Amino acid sequence: MGEPYPKLTAHDLTRTFGRGPRAVDALGPLDLAVAPGEFACLVGPSGCGKSTLLRIAAGLLRPSTGTLEIHTSSVRPAAMIFQDYGIYDWKTVQANVRFGLDVGRVPRREANARAAEWLARMGLADFAHAYPAALSGGMRQRVAIARALAVEPELLLMDEPFAALDAQLRTILQDELLEITQALRTTTLFITHSLEEAIVLGDRVFVMSARPGRIIAEHRPPFPRPRTGDVRATPEFTALKSELWDLLRKEAVPA
Ligand SMILES: Nc1ncnc2c1ncn2[C@@H]1O[C@H](COP(=O)(O)OP(=O)(O)OP(=O)(O)O)[C@@H](O)[C@H]1O
Ligand SMILES: [Mg+2]
Repeated sequence: MGEPYPKLTAHDLTRTFGRGPRAVDALGPLDLAVAPGEFACLVGPSGCGKSTLLRIAAGLLRPSTGTLEIHTSSVRPAAMIFQDYGIYDWKTVQANVRFGLDVGRVPRREANARAAEWLARMGLADFAHAYPAALSGGMRQRVAIARALAVEPELLLMDEPFAALDAQLRTILQDELLEITQALRTTTLFITHSLEEAIVLGDRVFVMSARPGRIIAEHRPPFPRPRTGDVRATPEFTALKSELWDLLRKEAVPA
């Protein structure tokens, strides 16, 4: 390990939107520490504050109370994939994928090569010069994934990145994400509605309560690293899935 600090630490974190009688308590209080190289998955009912937490982590929103700290080396960037993809409609697919590399002043030749590599991996090579308006939802999502991963981020924040993809592509990308994050020791905070996805990918799976989202359970899928998608076929996988499902069902049904 060697690195003493968690890459991401939330302490007593809350977020409320609005004021007075119409205020909405969206999140927390929540405590969370994600270790260097750890893959942390968050699952929880719709509207419980998951995206709010990720937006605070990305520095796009301020906490109402408490703190969220990020310790990155500044040599490698952080990257975020938004739930609505967050790609630029006025840039071509290739320019979107190159965006983070341009910001990071990666030389043009190398940036082009890396963008091309990621477009190929995402099955988008033929669409490099297309604009996002000409793409399907799943293709736009793949552009966002390529853009985030092309910078080889130290910290990766992902908000349901695979939600719009068909089951086969989703499985392929889960396996690929496992490989990439294990090879680069990327610290990842990953939101998903899919328990299977959380169990395949996560070192820890955090279950959140209904709004305002707090962490009500934490599980460690019992699969050693480096891990592959083969864990999906194990009895431990099925057992953990039904355990998490029971927890979530209680949160989804209003009392
Ligand atoms: N900018 C905002 N202004 C007002 N309310 C907001 C804002 N952003 C989020 N909220 C509210 O905060 C709560 C949590 O929203 P958030 O998007 O974080 O949920 P989520 O867990 O990501 O849900 P989903 O799983 O559906 O994506 C919701 O009640 C939402 O209406
Ligand atoms: Mg969300």
